[in-house]
Amino acid sequence: MLGFPDGFLWGAATAAYQIEGAWREDGKGESIWDRFSHTPGKIFQGQVGDTACDHYHKWREDVALMAEIGLKAYRFSISWPRVLPEGTGRVEPRGLDFYSALVDALLENGIRPLPTLYHWDLPAALQDKYGGWEGRDTAAAFGEYAGVVAAKLGDRVADWMTLNEPHVSVSCGYAGGSHAPGERAGRDVRLAVGHNLLRAHGEGHRALKAASPSARVGLAFSLQVCEPASDSPEDAAAARRRDGECNRWYLDPVLRGGYPGDMVELYKSGGFSPPIKSGDMEAIHTGLDFVGVNYYTRAVLADAPDAGGLIRARGVPQAGEHTEMGWEVYPDGLYNLLVRLKRDYAPGALLVTENGCAFADAPGPDGAVDDPRRAAYYKSHFEAAHRAIADGVPLEGYCIWSFMDNFEWGHGFSKRFGFVYTDYETQRRIVKSSGRAYAEIIAANGLETS
Ligand code: FCB
Repeated sequence: MLGFPDGFLWGAATAAYQIEGAWREDGKGESIWDRFSHTPGKIFQGQVGDTACDHYHKWREDVALMAEIGLKAYRFSISWPRVLPEGTGRVEPRGLDFYSALVDALLENGIRPLPTLYHWDLPAALQDKYGGWEGRDTAAAFGEYAGVVAAKLGDRVADWMTLNEPHVSVSCGYAGGSHAPGERAGRDVRLAVGHNLLRAHGEGHRALKAASPSARVGLAFSLQVCEPASDSPEDAAAARRRDGECNRWYLDPVLRGGYPGDMVELYKSGGFSPPIKSGDMEAIHTGLDFVGVNYYTRAVLADAPDAGGLIRARGVPQAGEHTEMGWEVYPDGLYNLLVRLKRDYAPGALLVTENGCAFADAPGPDGAVDDPRRAAYYKSHFEAAHRAIADGVPLEGYCIWSFMDNFEWGHGFSKRFGFVYTDYETQRRIVKSSGRAYAEIIAANGLETS
């Protein structure tokens, strides 16, 4: 039996736009994701998150299911335009009341609420007014929003996350264009967007601590393990550049107070620098009470001198098991990542804030959903986490992505990440066999070794 530390936070994660639905109920304002998914050609089969899992109406049932499974923590996100329909100014009390009731229900069931303030659904009003994250004012607006939410929930919520995956906001929202707001912008814009997101983290951190001084504040980073395809120094440098672009560019300012020097030089060689104003780096350098780790897979990278751009790294496909997303199943990556974070940043605490897999599950003739590959994925990654803890990594908990199948952004409903199956026709939930297996692990606070 691989036992986990007492009080280990076995959890699950979701995000507002992916599950809530009720996209214009109770005074909610439009978000950039509402707008993006309603734009023809953006989402798989033209699907939209208008109803998603209808969690806005079914949350009591969902919390009951979480309690039945035995979750100790639940990471959810708060929809900014539900609380501040125009992004700043007028507060919508019905939006705040929804999250307040959710927090109460979680606490009544012994489930620790882990809210994230920004999981990509920016109020569309701020996109229109300030150019979204291209504008410096959006960071100040985020601080205002954080203060409003903390004033309402801060008496009951002990742990917060400001942002989810700033790198993905930049890369998918402003490079690939596959996420809202769907831009394909140059490096200069991307550096500004990233900088303003980090500034928003700083503003949010300050507002949360001002409202509740004992609050613990973290940030959920998308961390991709970047490994070189060979022993050559060229491939090692390519992997280092990609790691710099995706990982260190966001970790270093928050945890060390500055952008990584090698990347600053690289971008400068192309004529680009982040638009830093006086005081910005101090405001971003908050440190974190816990580092949130979203981990799914690794990238194996080779030098690509002829590729355009500055990073010049080419992903090398790997053999072995892949999920429905085409992502390699690579539990050692989680171990390597956790150990590396401890070595390079020495955080006081870490939390796996997302890890999980998409497979094409469907109910069998008996109505049950059997997903042994997902259960195996969890187990192999829990084993990796256990090894990291044994090696001294202060890992406090582990949130599976996701509690239930939901709207997977550009993929619509075609990718199922949940350990609870969502029947989108009836909104019925069915706990998958992986969910049952997870419940056993939680009850035992550990796993049987194979
Ligand atoms: C992460 C997102 C999350 C979900 C998973 C699969 O990048 O934070 O919302 O889409 O990927």
